[in-house]
Amino acid sequence: MTAVDARAGTTAEAGAEPFAPPPGFRFGVATAAYQIEGSTLADGRGESIWDRFAHTPGKVADGDTGDVACDHYRRWRSDVELMDSLHVESYRFSIAWPRIQPTGVGTVNRRGLDFYKRLAESLRERGIEPVATLYHWDLPQALQNGGGWDRRDTVERFAEYARVVGDELGDVVASWITQNEPWCTAFLGNAIGRKAPGLTDWATALRVSHHLLLSHGRATEALRSVLPGGGEVGIALNLFPVLPAVDDEAHREAARVRDGYVNRWFLDPVFKGAYPEDMVERYEREVGPLNAVRDGDLEAIAAPCDFFGVNYYNPMRVEPSPDGPLHVRDAESVGPVTGMGWEIDPDGLKQILARVREEYTSLPIMITENGSAFEDAEPADGVVEDPQRRAYLAGHLAAIGEALADGADVTRYFVWSLLDNFEWEDGYAQRFGIVHVDFETQARTPKASALFYKDYIDRARKGS
Ligand code: FCB
Repeated sequence: MTAVDARAGTTAEAGAEPFAPPPGFRFGVATAAYQIEGSTLADGRGESIWDRFAHTPGKVADGDTGDVACDHYRRWRSDVELMDSLHVESYRFSIAWPRIQPTGVGTVNRRGLDFYKRLAESLRERGIEPVATLYHWDLPQALQNGGGWDRRDTVERFAEYARVVGDELGDVVASWITQNEPWCTAFLGNAIGRKAPGLTDWATALRVSHHLLLSHGRATEALRSVLPGGGEVGIALNLFPVLPAVDDEAHREAARVRDGYVNRWFLDPVFKGAYPEDMVERYEREVGPLNAVRDGDLEAIAAPCDFFGVNYYNPMRVEPSPDGPLHVRDAESVGPVTGMGWEIDPDGLKQILARVREEYTSLPIMITENGSAFEDAEPADGVVEDPQRRAYLAGHLAAIGEALADGADVTRYFVWSLLDNFEWEDGYAQRFGIVHVDFETQARTPKASALFYKDYIDRARKGS
């Protein structure tokens, strides 16, 4: 038995033989800038809304901030080596806008650009594909001071940033994601107040959602104007199967509304060039006129992409309630949940893929995030046992194998996340990494799930 087998258990033990990766498929890991980089004042980086939010007392668990995080800005070389040692084939990271344009406007900060250029080059030298996200939630605070995503002008600023970054990095990065999870940015950030900038105004959140979508369209256009041939662009949405907790009309209606709020509000404009009518009526009734939408916006939002990014974690079970957003609240989960309380359901991933294909698009799909937080044991003798995360991973890989067999066109799978990191409003309390990070010493220890993933990739490649 090899060390990997002994520590991680064999793939067979975890439930299945690896699926046969189709040509061009890559197994990856994902992170985001504010969650791992730290060095928030280094090399001319400007302040972001997450710096401001995390430093506001009461916003993040235990008063945690991303000031140091995983210190990846200084340790990136060894993190690339770590990925290489795990046989990872693709790395999805995000670019911090405030490193490139500290105030979100004008002058480009060379040192910020160079950091990502070196990172991408070094990945490529090791045969790891770089996949870059332009916006993973860290808006320059200076733009927020002027209204942030509530202001239409921010869309044009973002397109300019996209053009600059695409122009500079297009020779080393082929795959580009414009926006990550605009539902979280718009609604959790501006209506519910759980994420930066921490506002609680639905009219603002609706305008923000439109401007984020429009920014995807404009950035796509900007990237296309500068990327060399072979460059590809897409958006990453977080999608949830939404299930009525009880099968009656009131619950089914609650599920339709929640689905409209989290899924269709983004899927419909991107792939059908229209906001869903039922949700437009509901918002106009409950919030007010949707006054941000101008002629031509929906055509821009629906501009053709090269791939579609799907983040999948869990299904939602819902029930009608006077308390929840839009009179819907989460019902109790059925079966096992992760440390976040999210229901574990690999089948939900298959359902999402089938729905996207039937109702929206036949574009190639990248699973841009999928993963789980659990309270792990501390490293002992260089080992972190995380059987629940390993099982989560094995279950979702099996689901992808089944989806592929059913004809789905999945081209990437990115585990969230390479490292334990700053999990937004939960700070460092929720660990999503397949690699354990000791936040006192910054020591990295691959967990059993990381060794399982490596073994899975090796076996998948041997079979193909
Ligand atoms: C997603 C985010 C990602 C991470 C995971 C757990 O919503 O895109 O940054 O926090 O959840």
